Amino acid sequence: MDKIFIEGQQTLSGSVQISGAKNAVLPIMTAALMAEGRSVVTRVPDLRDTRTMIRLMEIVGATCSFENGKLSIDGSTVNNPEAPYDLVKTMRASFYVLGPLLARFGVVKVSLPGGCAWGPRPVDFHLKGLEKLGAKITLESGYIIAEAKRLQGTKINFEFPSVGATGNIAMAAATAEGTTIIENAAREPEIVQLCEYLNTMGACIRGIGTTRLTIDGVETLHSADIDVIPDRIEAGTFLAAGALLGEITLNGVIPEHLDSVILNFKEVGCNVSTTSNSVTIAQADKIQPVDMTTAVYPGFPTDLQAQWVALMTLAKGSSMITDTVYHDRFSHVPELNRFGANIKVENNTAFVRGVDALVGAPVMSTDIRASASLIVAGLAAKGRTEISRVYHIDRGYEQIEEKFRSLGANIWRKNPIV
Ligand code: EPU
Repeated sequence: MDKIFIEGQQTLSGSVQISGAKNAVLPIMTAALMAEGRSVVTRVPDLRDTRTMIRLMEIVGATCSFENGKLSIDGSTVNNPEAPYDLVKTMRASFYVLGPLLARFGVVKVSLPGGCAWGPRPVDFHLKGLEKLGAKITLESGYIIAEAKRLQGTKINFEFPSVGATGNIAMAAATAEGTTIIENAAREPEIVQLCEYLNTMGACIRGIGTTRLTIDGVETLHSADIDVIPDRIEAGTFLAAGALLGEITLNGVIPEHLDSVILNFKEVGCNVSTTSNSVTIAQADKIQPVDMTTAVYPGFPTDLQAQWVALMTLAKGSSMITDTVYHDRFSHVPELNRFGANIKVENNTAFVRGVDALVGAPVMSTDIRASASLIVAGLAAKGRTEISRVYHIDRGYEQIEEKFRSLGANIWRKNPIV
């Protein structure tokens, strides 16, 4: 299994291109299954998760080709509305086929995802929403089977503005009979783009970007092309490294998507400037401790919580980082402490006491964003860091070593068996 090695404390400088957003492209791919035609998606990041989703597309019968960031999905051959356990267990986002395939075929069978490294992560909002749209849901041998001749428009009020449930229900409701209103909908840029894409496919969704989506069902959707938005979480991860190690520019971003993130990097003491499509960050002389509470968009994203904890380990003082979205998402903490960080977790809060320096160590990735925090810490630490189980990082970051190397980092990958 590959390992990533870092010889830390190299100054970073220069610019890097941010890839397309993983969490935008995954639901877009499943939306393309709703049309009998060929959709072309560009700026698709070459990630383990996009590759897994392509495999799932092919299992359900779609014809796909993927080259140089351009993904073509032909939905006319889709004939097998079933997502097997082997894929769903490796990537929860496979659950996004539920709404689209139910809408198109009147029946779908999707493995229940189960828990994940940082907690239960239920799918009850997705299922309750589909039931309200008139689907009959049963559980059989670990699989959810949803059936409905044609879904019926309804009113759904989410207990929490779930990203995945909003996406799934918006896709399902796009071709339901009548109007669906989703209250307390997610407003993340990735969901905004999904809804805009559905509209390009012929759907009629209003209120995009607000907490209330109104979806007038249409008979069918047609294929359409789309360019994926840049990955604000990849960008935030590079900002955390820049805050500690130099001056870097991130190109191809949408700075508004990073508003709350940029504001916090400024509070830390970094100089951050933006153009219409780039962000430049200059390292802070002293990292000021800044407390953080994650929240749904436009708040500070839970997907940058681990990287923020890594940054705060080197702050001149103490900080508190609370995750209100995922209460148990702290598997990076014991690993960061292996660098000499001083972090304690109580309930859903990490208490970080800044230290003068981190020292490189052998550490283990536990999930996508935890791995990203270990890279940030490893880049800032004195000496050598060895990160194992890097397949987690490959799920969500395209060419991460190459990108950091181009900025001056000493980071490389090795397969110990070769
Ligand atoms: N929740 C429920 N029931 C549900 C759905 C969600 O209780 O049916 C709860 C979750 O347990 C959690 C909260 O609602 O406490 C929010 O979960 P959400 O549904 O919004 O998350 P998700 O759709 O499963 C997406 C991203 C995650 C990101 C979260 C939050 C994708 C493919 N995944 O997950 O990204 O952390 O939204 O922003 O879009 C990552 O990229 O590393 C990642 C984990």
